[in-house]
Amino acid sequence: MAAPGCSRRTDSKHLIGFSQCNLGEPWRVAMNAEVAGRAKDFPDLQVVFADAQQDNAKQVADVETFMRQRVDLLMISPNEAKPLTPIVEKVFKAGIPVIVIDRGLEGDSYTVFIGADNYEIGRQAGEHIASVLGGNGSIVEIRGLPGSPPAIDRGKGMHDAIAKHPNLRIVHDPVANWLREEAMAQMEMALAANPKIDLVYAHNDPMAVGAYLAAKAKGREKEMKFIGIDALPGLDGGRQAVADGKLDATFVYPTGGRQAVELADKILKGEKVPHKVVLSTEKIVKPAQPASR
Ligand code: FRU
Repeated sequence: MAAPGCSRRTDSKHLIGFSQCNLGEPWRVAMNAEVAGRAKDFPDLQVVFADAQQDNAKQVADVETFMRQRVDLLMISPNEAKPLTPIVEKVFKAGIPVIVIDRGLEGDSYTVFIGADNYEIGRQAGEHIASVLGGNGSIVEIRGLPGSPPAIDRGKGMHDAIAKHPNLRIVHDPVANWLREEAMAQMEMALAANPKIDLVYAHNDPMAVGAYLAAKAKGREKEMKFIGIDALPGLDGGRQAVADGKLDATFVYPTGGRQAVELADKILKGEKVPHKVVLSTEKIVKPAQPASR
């Protein structure tokens, strides 16, 4: 994948700079693959990719490089909202269209935001939790990177949904920054501090699987259920984790990569696009096993 400094504008093409906040997580790799795959269908679009490696300062620098390269359009999935807002505002105010994907920014200085409704996903997760626990139980919530809006919204939606059930208690709510290894370490502490945990709600599947592995290492994984978000296909994805019985449920969080390229094409052709595109979600659970005779 070309680093921003390595690309060269091919005159007949529109140059799109895509600033991805990290490529350490499978969901991000899937998003880039979707962007690259869909872009092949538009011969006059050329996409160059930058990987900010979960570093806000690096992502700001990547966007500055794209500006210097005079990209025709910026696509960005920001690491955290606050530190990335000013540079994106600068790009937008310079007249370069901006597509923001999955993690939002502060304010309104972009052309279109595309992503699923994280509050709604959190709310649906909360409803599911209330139903599987019969309205009673101890929950560990493992949170994503605090400055990234999906972590805030997935938390709020879930809290609002379980607020109707006074006997559902969140007993521990560590931050694991979206990462499996950090979730494992946090879950070890949650296990040590709580003799009884009925359910773990993690803001993404890698953290849910990390929590599962930590519980399994202590022989406690059958005591509790694990819920995640993303539902990536493939052997390491959340769908497989549900099929294997590691996760009780996950919720589809589409990457939006394909649709972002389609929006870019429209914008560059001068067509009107909405200011917000909301992608749909879906709950994934294991299909009920037929009763054995
Ligand atoms: C990947 C990821 C996904 C999560 C999304 C939220 O970086 O952590 O697992 O759904 O970001 O922005």
